[in-house]
Amino acid sequence: MATGNSSNRGQWGSNTGFILAAAGSAIGLGNIWRFPYVVGENGGGAFLLIYLLCILLLGLPVMLAELTIGRYSRKNPVGAFESIRPRSRWKIVGFLGVITGICILSYYSVVAGYTLGYIGKTLAGNKDSYQSFSSNPLLAFSLFITFIVLTVLVVQGGIKNGIERCSKILMPILFFLMLILIIRSITLDGAGKGLVFYLKPDFSKVTGHTFLAAMGQAFFSLSLGMGCMITYGSYLPKDSNLLLNGVSVAAFDTLIALMAGFMIFPALFAAGMDPKAGPSLVFEVLPKIFSLMPGGNIVGASFFLLLSIAALTSTISLLEVATAYFVDERGWLRKKSVWFIALIVLLLGIPSALSQGIVPWLNNLPLVHIDFLGFMDWIFGNIMLAVGALFLAIFIAWIWKTNTAINEIKKGCPKFKYVSPIFSILLKFFCPAIILLLIVFLIIN
Ligand code: PFF
Repeated sequence: MATGNSSNRGQWGSNTGFILAAAGSAIGLGNIWRFPYVVGENGGGAFLLIYLLCILLLGLPVMLAELTIGRYSRKNPVGAFESIRPRSRWKIVGFLGVITGICILSYYSVVAGYTLGYIGKTLAGNKDSYQSFSSNPLLAFSLFITFIVLTVLVVQGGIKNGIERCSKILMPILFFLMLILIIRSITLDGAGKGLVFYLKPDFSKVTGHTFLAAMGQAFFSLSLGMGCMITYGSYLPKDSNLLLNGVSVAAFDTLIALMAGFMIFPALFAAGMDPKAGPSLVFEVLPKIFSLMPGGNIVGASFFLLLSIAALTSTISLLEVATAYFVDERGWLRKKSVWFIALIVLLLGIPSALSQGIVPWLNNLPLVHIDFLGFMDWIFGNIMLAVGALFLAIFIAWIWKTNTAINEIKKGCPKFKYVSPIFSILLKFFCPAIILLLIVFLIIN
């Protein structure tokens, strides 16, 4: 990948390189850690259906919009808004994206650190609970810091030769390992109840909150609403097919999330556990599956290794957004930018790292009654992404104008003319109206 220098920003090595990197950004803890617990908290099957609708009707148009403005402007999110509407307030939306990325990175790296720790824990056959693991301050901090440093080293060095090459081999392995785990999970005694929970919609459990959570999960999982796809799109050549790229990334991402559900829920019900366990869900359920497999330690450790890599390709993209801003707009050196952002992320992440059993009041915040990490995730991983997507949709549809976007997309995909009316309606009316409605619902509640 390009190193993002404003005078010589470069481009992706190839279109496959872009799809891998963008899918690498999209596929991460959001699919395997977050998706199952959000499904669990929101009642299963009905949530799943609403989630798929959100991907199709909100995620895809916003994905296409981000890629388009990125490729057109060849800039980071702040620069992209600035280049289309110079000296207007629109660049604030870009700033919000940069800040949201930094905040997501702060708690995301804490969880990513746990996956790193679980490699060793599983390999050693250590049966300690998630609670005792996450409440060890020394362990939590060293894993958290290690993960940030790993991210910094990759982003600092450029991505093309490291991550692009690794993803090509490792992503398919993750996929096959998940297939094996799914087979083990659905063949456990009592797995059927899990499949029913996951696949049979129970609409009595649907509330406004379900829609909000589904929309937030769709944006989070597809890496939308904070300019990540603007930044990645900015390194695409002019003749690339944005429609095909966007659809491929969304399809891969959704496939992996759906697979994670098939891996988790049957085993969860077979073990008689609570689907509402929240963020600790995956760390509690997966070791149960591994313990029931021959060579479970090795399978488990490999799984957590691949999950760590999937998380790394996402943290790289989170860091890349802020880095591209400092490099493009402030003229900072790439190296100085990444270490400066890493320091902020580290400080911001401290309360999240302490909130999983180390400091009791951070584990149960006054007023909201959730832990600090969950709170950060709710604010930045849900609401701020939705706000970002809302402004982006309004900007592209009404300020830049949908027709300009459509012409830009047609440059690499003449056939886009067949679907452009649907794109136009979704981006102009449907996306802003639905996102706004859900945000207003949230404020009222
Ligand atoms: N999409 C990533 C995941 O599902 O784990 C998380 C993420 C990455 C969100 C990049 C937002 C973003 F810009």
